[in-house]
Amino acid sequence: MPLPSKYLMAVYYIMSRKRSKRKQPEREEFVLHEHEKIEEGVFDKRTMLRLRRLFTHDIISSLGFVIATGKEADVYLADPGSKISADAVVVKIFRIETSGFARRMLYITGDPRFGKIKGGMNNVVNEWCKKEYGNLKIAALAGVYAPKPYYFNGNILAMEFIDNNGVPASTLKDTELSNPTETLSVIISAIKKLYAKGLVHSDVSEYNILLRGGTPYLIDFGQAVVLGHPEASYFLQRDVENIIAYFEKKYGISRNIGETLAYITG
Ligand SMILES: Nc1ncnc2c1ncn2[C@@H]1O[C@H](COP(=O)(O)OP(=O)(O)OP(=O)(O)O)[C@@H](O)[C@H]1O
Ligand SMILES: [Mg+2]
Repeated sequence: MPLPSKYLMAVYYIMSRKRSKRKQPEREEFVLHEHEKIEEGVFDKRTMLRLRRLFTHDIISSLGFVIATGKEADVYLADPGSKISADAVVVKIFRIETSGFARRMLYITGDPRFGKIKGGMNNVVNEWCKKEYGNLKIAALAGVYAPKPYYFNGNILAMEFIDNNGVPASTLKDTELSNPTETLSVIISAIKKLYAKGLVHSDVSEYNILLRGGTPYLIDFGQAVVLGHPEASYFLQRDVENIIAYFEKKYGISRNIGETLAYITG
């Protein structure tokens, strides 16, 4: 089967970013080295083939620029395919060879949705990606502000782009809120709605909340666990403590942790 031309264009785009290795000034060399690490980590052969499926399934029509590179995943912006009615699609590609194996196992082992995972790191990453997709579906069912999940395949997840007029939304950490009390209430109510659907995000922080038109959106659901996980109540308490501590430190708002937990679980 011939490759779709848009797929080829994306491949050329990625390849074109592998710049020449002539002697570079120190800073450029560092940047080049970082880029190579990203590309080697993300776009291995398997990932390329999976990326192709996003084109053949009409989820994306071209791959754009990197929005963010994290320790474990890189986040790209893409043009939508015919199946998606939105202006853009976010494509999160998890690195296969990554550290964080032990950290991930903590959230996977004990989640009754997952059995024993065989086959090493590759499968752990795939399970993680599938888990984020499933968790985003639950968030959508719960009516929580979070990216709508579109599609996943192996280590690739496609989801709704959280933006402000086409610009990637900023994190809570990088935003000065005009009504922090209200924002904190919306975040706590999101935690409550997730809890009611049996899910604990497990990494609620100023880094995993984006502000779209002033509304806080929870992102990064890979580590979210169901209530059957033995550490679920510990993760819930940690989420609540972290977010309350952030609002207290930055905005001087105080909220009782015990009462908030009782509200969430009540
Ligand atoms: N749906 C989205 N819409 C807009 N921006 C997004 C979206 N998803 C992720 N991002 C951007 O990508 C960044 C990293 O995403 P995310 O937190 O899901 O990945 P991560 O693997 O946890 O990365 P990190 O290790 O940096 O935390 C976010 O901080 C945000 O800036
Ligand atoms: Mg994150």
